[in-house]
Amino acid sequence: MSPIPKTAPFADEEIDLLNRVVGTATPVQRAWLAGFLAGLDASAGGALPIQPAGPARPAEPLTIVFASESGNSEKLAGDIAKSARKNGLKPTVIDMADLDLSQLTSAKKLVFIAATWGEGDPPARAVRAYNELMGESAPRLDDVEFGVLALGDTAYAEFCAIGKKIDERLAALGGKRVVDRVDLDLDFAEPAAHWIGDAVKVLTPPNAGGRVIEVDFGGKPAAPASTDIIEAEITEHVDLNSSRSDKETVHLALSFENGAPAYEPGDSLDLYPENDPAYVDDLLKVAGLAGEEKLRSDFLTSRDVTTLSLKTVETYAEKTGHHYVKALIADGQAREWIAGRQLIDLIATFPIALDAEKLRALTRPLAPRAYSIASSRREVGDEAHLLISAVRYESHGRQRKGVASNFVAEQLKRGGRVRVKLKPNKHFALPAPDKDVIMVGPGTGVAPFRAFVQERRATEASGRSWLFFGDRTFTHDFLYQLDWQDALKDGALTRMDVAFSRDTPEKIYVQHKLLDRRAELVEWLDGGAYFYVCGDAKAMAKDVRAALVRAFAEVKALSPEAAEQAVVTLEREKRYLQDTY
Ligand SMILES: Cc1cc2nc3c(=O)[nH]c(=O)nc-3n(C[C@H](O)[C@H](O)[C@H](O)COP(=O)(O)OP(=O)(O)OC[C@H]3O[C@@H](n4cnc5c(N)ncnc54)[C@H](O)[C@@H]3O)c2cc1C
Ligand SMILES: Cc1cc2nc3c(=O)[nH]c(=O)nc-3n(C[C@H](O)[C@H](O)[C@H](O)COP(=O)(O)O)c2cc1C
Repeated sequence: MSPIPKTAPFADEEIDLLNRVVGTATPVQRAWLAGFLAGLDASAGGALPIQPAGPARPAEPLTIVFASESGNSEKLAGDIAKSARKNGLKPTVIDMADLDLSQLTSAKKLVFIAATWGEGDPPARAVRAYNELMGESAPRLDDVEFGVLALGDTAYAEFCAIGKKIDERLAALGGKRVVDRVDLDLDFAEPAAHWIGDAVKVLTPPNAGGRVIEVDFGGKPAAPASTDIIEAEITEHVDLNSSRSDKETVHLALSFENGAPAYEPGDSLDLYPENDPAYVDDLLKVAGLAGEEKLRSDFLTSRDVTTLSLKTVETYAEKTGHHYVKALIADGQAREWIAGRQLIDLIATFPIALDAEKLRALTRPLAPRAYSIASSRREVGDEAHLLISAVRYESHGRQRKGVASNFVAEQLKRGGRVRVKLKPNKHFALPAPDKDVIMVGPGTGVAPFRAFVQERRATEASGRSWLFFGDRTFTHDFLYQLDWQDALKDGALTRMDVAFSRDTPEKIYVQHKLLDRRAELVEWLDGGAYFYVCGDAKAMAKDVRAALVRAFAEVKALSPEAAEQAVVTLEREKRYLQDTY
């Protein structure tokens, strides 16, 4: 019999671990362990009375559900679980991708952490469960106490929309909100830690059993991937578009003095950019603060000086009392006005005397941008490659530049340095080497698939691989063309289909190519292939999914509902994987 009961305030896998150690221990070893733990307690300040031996009190369960795409909510879910365990609760962490709504009805205490993606959408993996939760057949949650933490970005019009909707929905289904929701921006670390502390306190019953000492009983797990910010040297900086293309897509090779971070194909790097000096100078000039050197230096390296959110407009109205800006908010027109505009437009359009502190208060910390890693360590050793498209557009009569992509394209040079941090993504990983993979990656969406193909070559994977790539023109925009040709030759890539939208009178995209190849596509998927999509989330990812549903319907003569179900099944089996942005 296992000595540690399932009701102990540990996660199931920890109970298994403990049982593996304690279950096989001799009486002498157990006595030593008991003394050791008591001694630990005493040396920690003696704050905890040693409990007399008695029947174990069942630990109160806490269900933690996260809806995440790039891992922030998932990480916070882990933090809550840790904190809950310390408070004597028994947490269960569930990815919304795997959520069965019956798990909510059986939860007495529930924490939801939800990120918002696209334009007010749920994270891709969470869509199925989210729709079920919002649907008519969602179950009542009368006995459930809950709290919601929403993650988002104030730069988006639909700030934290999904967290807000889940919070409302849980209450509408009869749940009792015992912790108020917080809506957090990109600099969420500190407020999230506060919220977690408060939430766990509220959700812990007074007699929950106090602090639990954490002792590492297990064998040492593999060292976690280093996720510290590190400096890299730029060893290659090449524009992969031809000089006659209207795009600029930079292949960046980074090398690391103390070895590359332990990345896997499918992971990204967060890149820490600096602002465009010309934009910062214009902004300071417009604000009448051109001589403020300290502010200038701060703006160049550490503040987000381009984003214009509703919150920025409100802060401007509050700090300056500007009548027109106040009127814009009062009339409900601010939301529409900020679309396509930046901070500089607000100050240029509604000028008023500003000091450095007021201007600084309109900015938030400058956030890093994620870029898919386009290489495999097995092929490139201590390097990491990125593929970055310079974002440039015109709006409201002004030329605009994306901060990070233009920092890379215009400010970084070969021999220069840049700060990056590994952003692992275990939800976008290669399957076993004998499985077939289908990869759909137009534009920079192809970056992780270069890593996949390199990895499969290096591991001599026996599974087949099929790449769908698209861009504007064959001649000027065929990113990594030589790499794909080599891979087709040496067998690392089995097939490739391309769609160049501006080479033909009617625009052809990857989704059209998928439909052209529908019979083989369905055959690969029926044979167990994994389907990956990377790149544009706004249109491409949705169109690709719709094309796949249509492919199933046409090839297998299914009703639209049954074809949709075939794709849902792929998603549930984690054979339809997305990394879109
Ligand atoms: C997991 C992940 C992986 C990614 N991988 C890659 C990759 O491999 N390669 C890559 O190039 N990018 C990738 N991205 C996108 C990347 O992180 C940045 O979002 C992108 O480079 C733009 O950043 P920026 O700082 O240059 O632009 P920002 O300064 O952030 O400006 C972008 C903003 O400008 C506005 N905007 C852009 N175009 C227009 C327009 N036409 N009209 C009006 N407004 C507009 C929008 O508000 C947009 O949000 C990835 C993103 C994620 C989340
Ligand atoms: C392509 C993209 C779209 C996003 N769309 C929204 C949005 O509509 N509303 C919002 O509040 N945040 C939006 N965000 C910000 C994310 O919600 C935020 O980065 C969050 O911390 C991500 O959490 P996750 O890592 O758990 O997915 C978006 C981020 C990206 C990269």
